[in-house]
Amino acid sequence: MGSTPGEKSQIPLLTPYKMGNFQLSHRIALAPLTRERFFKNVPQPQPHVVLYYSQRASKGGFMLSEATRVSDTAQGYPNTPGIWTKEHVEAWKPIVDAVHAKGAVFFCQIWHAGRVSNTGFQPNGQAPISSTDKELTPQILSNGVDVARFSPPRCLTTEEIPQVVNDFRIAARNAMEAGFDGIELHGAHGYLIDQFLKDGVNDRTDQYGGSIENRCRFAREIVEAVVAEVGADRVGIRLSPFANYMESGDSDPNTLGLYLAETLSRYGILYCHMVEPRMKTADEKFECPHSLVPMRRAFKGTFIVAGGYDREDGNKAVEEDRADLVAFGRHFLANPDLPKRFEVNAPLNKYDRSTFYLHDPVVGYTDYPFLDETA
Ligand code: FNR
Repeated sequence: MGSTPGEKSQIPLLTPYKMGNFQLSHRIALAPLTRERFFKNVPQPQPHVVLYYSQRASKGGFMLSEATRVSDTAQGYPNTPGIWTKEHVEAWKPIVDAVHAKGAVFFCQIWHAGRVSNTGFQPNGQAPISSTDKELTPQILSNGVDVARFSPPRCLTTEEIPQVVNDFRIAARNAMEAGFDGIELHGAHGYLIDQFLKDGVNDRTDQYGGSIENRCRFAREIVEAVVAEVGADRVGIRLSPFANYMESGDSDPNTLGLYLAETLSRYGILYCHMVEPRMKTADEKFECPHSLVPMRRAFKGTFIVAGGYDREDGNKAVEEDRADLVAFGRHFLANPDLPKRFEVNAPLNKYDRSTFYLHDPVVGYTDYPFLDETA
């Protein structure tokens, strides 16, 4: 997209788009980003979080919240927000209001970590719940030094599953009460929903395991529940059929991705948000023969792509109709005015991986400079 630095341009990423009832003025979405800066487990105002999200809000932009817990068993990391109590709703309200004041559309990503957890995060020190009782091996964190350890999970019984589905339903209702415009189900990256979807994890013998239909049943039931609660036009889902993050590989990700795109499309949900096959983890990008195009064609609503995009790549995806919107994670994290920078083709601030998950209310969070501050 050949504009020289500093020159304004009408690039594909900056064209308007109507997503259901939402009139967006550009195609650059803020990807969901866990930042671990909600303190005291949320039920109180979080002014630094208000600032962080409002910095990234632009008129007609689409933004996703960080992964937000649906229940007291959903936690996997410290200082992550929840949305299952009235207090959580109150804590989110000023954040949502600040984003709306800038004219952006804001969806809450609702989440259950499943086995990506340990007993320290669980009520009464109990075992985390999952689709399986297979334990995750310890993982080196993004700072390259610390190691995350996970407790052996407890496989949910068939009878317990409706309660977890209901937790997602209540979380969706609470998100609307907090003022969010809709919700995104976190069905990606090896967390609870993905633990059901992938045959590398799910070893169940009941109606939630085995065939692809069975492995997708939990996701379908959650989609049905949240659609009934808030309406299909306010529901999106994030999926990463190709990712093996948190040991969540599938033996046939193309078939799984296509099946999900076709099946979930039938519920008339607003969008499907898929992570590129070239993203092995949030940090690794590699050449890959697979593509999301078959899923894009199969899904009738809005299709959002994410994973390793930059200005040039994102423009191409929109221009070639491989996506309606492109979600940016690390670049948006480090460039609060990313749409503006893309518009004038300005250089980007470099992200600092070592501060991604610092529990500091400022450093690596709200202190990335705006364009006019660096000029
Ligand atoms: C993430 N990612 C992520 N994904 C998600 O669905 N929910 C989340 O809460 C998070 N949290 C998160 C935190 C941080 C610090 C990073 C770097 C990533 C994945 C993210 O949304 C995105 O898919 C990846 O970062 C790849 O896109 P980029 O960064 O190449 O644009």
